[in-house]
Amino acid sequence: MKKLKVLVLGQLDRALAEKLNAIAEIEYVDREERLPEEQIKSLLADKDAVISEPLDTISSAVMDSSKQLRVIANRAVGFDNVHIPDATQRGILVTNTPGVLDAATADLAMALLLATTRRICEADRYIREGKWTGFQNDLMLGPDLWGKTIGIVGMGRIGKAFAKRARAFGLKIIYTRFSPKDKIDSQLWGDYDAVRVDLDDLCKNSDFISIHCPLNSQTKGLIGQAQLDQMKPQCVLINTARGAIIDEQALVSHLVNKKIGGAGLDVFADEPNVPEELLKLDNVVLVPHIGSACFETRFQMAESAVDSILSAFSGQRPNHLVNPEVWNERTQNELAQVKSEAR
Ligand code: DGY
Repeated sequence: MKKLKVLVLGQLDRALAEKLNAIAEIEYVDREERLPEEQIKSLLADKDAVISEPLDTISSAVMDSSKQLRVIANRAVGFDNVHIPDATQRGILVTNTPGVLDAATADLAMALLLATTRRICEADRYIREGKWTGFQNDLMLGPDLWGKTIGIVGMGRIGKAFAKRARAFGLKIIYTRFSPKDKIDSQLWGDYDAVRVDLDDLCKNSDFISIHCPLNSQTKGLIGQAQLDQMKPQCVLINTARGAIIDEQALVSHLVNKKIGGAGLDVFADEPNVPEELLKLDNVVLVPHIGSACFETRFQMAESAVDSILSAFSGQRPNHLVNPEVWNERTQNELAQVKSEAR
């Protein structure tokens, strides 16, 4: 019996593999590095759907050569690795996995804020290097969080989850969002005493800043030289969103020249490349894009991706469509046709 063909980039939990296997033949490629475009093209040449991750670039060229491809289930909330307008133009559904990773990502942002301000990694290195001689009143001092102001850039689900945590740590919240003012702003005021400001005011008035917006044409390079120049000299910048939201070179120069206090970074502009200069700085904490790296969270992300594929080929609208305009009668008929031919 011929089945749908699905490419899974990365691993898939056995229970989810069995669920998907009911309708599909799965090819797994558990790669550790970004695959060359030519290899993705050849892997997708005969596939109806793919489960991809931020590591996998699904370009227009890849879509052009993947004539059967109907669904890209991106196992992440961010989808900047997929060229959405081209997918839409070709009638390919793109789905993502929002909601299930809010707490995990907000936790990591808070961990980075604490690790950077309280110098956790530096202190750990200090002990391992045998430098500790005993309690000292001025050893490894950092700023208090309680009573200070945190600026949150982007107040979607993850931004709000972070705000909740920030409030518990006694931080005052100012934030910026990109949508027009609406009832969400009153809710944020009611729930967290959070005050909406513009980006300039946020940069000028925050003791710490955490980035929680998606990467898109509006937010690429959002935090550039001008914004960094406005920050307080002690300001600590946290990024668990996407590296390219910050002008990385400008950030490096501000950190090297001690124009801002420090940074906690989970994401980088050209992963896995991390600017050399950052490796030498004690006031920077670096982690390898692990915002959602919790067992239950990663399972739920994978489950959401699998469910998107199952729904799409069963004629049901997937829960998290990035390009809902593709979900029209024509696509539904085509997907049903693909599935019935694959029986
Ligand atoms: C996302 O979901 O976009 C994260 O960056 C990876 O989990």
